[in-house]
Amino acid sequence: MINNGFNNRINSGGQTLKGPRKIAIANKKGGVGKTTTTINLGSALAKLGRKVLIVDGDLQGSLTSWLNLGDNVNGRDLGAILTGIIPFVDAIFEIEEENFFAIPIDNSLNELKLNFNGDGGWEMALKRELDNWPLGYDYILFDCPASYNAILINILAASDEIIIPVQTEILSLNSTLSFLENLSQIKQSINPTLEIAGILPVMFDKRTRHSKEILEIMAEAPNLGNHLFKTVIRNNIRLAEGPMRSRTIFRASPSSNGAVDYMLLAEELIDQENNESNDENIISEVAISSQSENNNSGDALKPPEF
Ligand SMILES: Nc1ncnc2c1ncn2[C@@H]1O[C@H](COP(=O)(O)OP(=O)(O)OP(=O)(O)O)[C@@H](O)[C@H]1O
Ligand SMILES: [Mg+2]
Repeated sequence: MINNGFNNRINSGGQTLKGPRKIAIANKKGGVGKTTTTINLGSALAKLGRKVLIVDGDLQGSLTSWLNLGDNVNGRDLGAILTGIIPFVDAIFEIEEENFFAIPIDNSLNELKLNFNGDGGWEMALKRELDNWPLGYDYILFDCPASYNAILINILAASDEIIIPVQTEILSLNSTLSFLENLSQIKQSINPTLEIAGILPVMFDKRTRHSKEILEIMAEAPNLGNHLFKTVIRNNIRLAEGPMRSRTIFRASPSSNGAVDYMLLAEELIDQENNESNDENIISEVAISSQSENNNSGDALKPPEF
């Protein structure tokens, strides 16, 4: 069933109240828990009474198939929104948990051709659409692709914040650092107010020295340690089984470590709303250092190759 998205936070005086927190779950490294985090963090926030919309922004369609939405898409997906075929609210599906909604993606598409000619601003297609609707959500979480493509840029342009899941192993940490440089270009060129909600250690295995070592390096790294969530998502087989059962961790294994960890993360995220952060924005810091090394900020505005 479609939710029309009009159950919004407009008060009786017609004023629009503070809109949803729009958060991209992103890292250009594949397989680091982006989709797992989008679904289970979304479900935890919904359990805590927040109204949550999750959006599949990856043409692999992992989130869509995890939630078993594939057969019902019928053209109502993120691709149709980005190409202007349908309005945002027409692609919202209810899923089997209270306060929890999703926008799928048609994973039969191999690519998405946005109209680069028009009046320009292809990278703002999603943001324009979101700005058009009085959305009644507390949180919108975007599951991002691992590739640096037009959908990712649209999501980063439309988001207020980003959560970066990082597997506690060295290659994942290294590629995260280079992803932060890509973000600095996005920030300079299309979204100056994009902030990091947090860097999230995932798949942590306390039995391995390597996992602990990487966590220590992350905690001590300048510009990175102060953005680490306190919550660490442990390696948990129940999380890996989620897609097979087409359930969030809270329906499949509510007492597992995975459920505990994602609930703690949701609480930490909500807590941020009560604490004004004085931290300097890590994306700006990286921007300044990468700008002096390599003055190519315009590149982020070029339509990516498919
Ligand atoms: N905390 C965890 N413990 C155990 N397995 C996990 C955990 N988090 C994710 N996984 C598993 O790791 C794999 C990758 O996770 P996921 O699909 O969420 O990553 P992703 O970043 O979305 O990948 P992609 O870049 O392909 O979209 C999946 O098989 C998932 O079930
Ligand atoms: Mg994924």
